[in-house]
Amino acid sequence: MRRLPRDDGPRVRMEFEGQPLLAYAGDTVAAALLAGNHWNFRATPVSGASRGPFCMMGVCFDCLVEIDGVANRQACMIEVRDGMRVKRQLGASDIDGEADPFAQGEQDAPS
Ligand code: FES
Repeated sequence: MRRLPRDDGPRVRMEFEGQPLLAYAGDTVAAALLAGNHWNFRATPVSGASRGPFCMMGVCFDCLVEIDGVANRQACMIEVRDGMRVKRQLGASDIDGEADPFAQGEQDAPS
């Protein structure tokens, strides 16, 4: 997959994994990351396998990332904006602010 040649439109400065990334305004986060040659968006909770966008239309949830400290964001459904900070989502994320009880190394699973 590659972006078609494009030289127009305003740019947005964001970051992915702490590295600067220049995107086009109006791009989704997924499109911007793929255009920046980033394919690994998250790691699965069980095996840690890498995942990246598959459907690009909000169905598969393989594009989940952390955006500005908020986990479980669908990168294919959110537009980039200036100053946005995006990180890979590693494993399961918190739900309603509670730690994932199944996260490795944090605590035992509830009985
Ligand atoms: S790529 Fe499938 S939900 Fe985002």
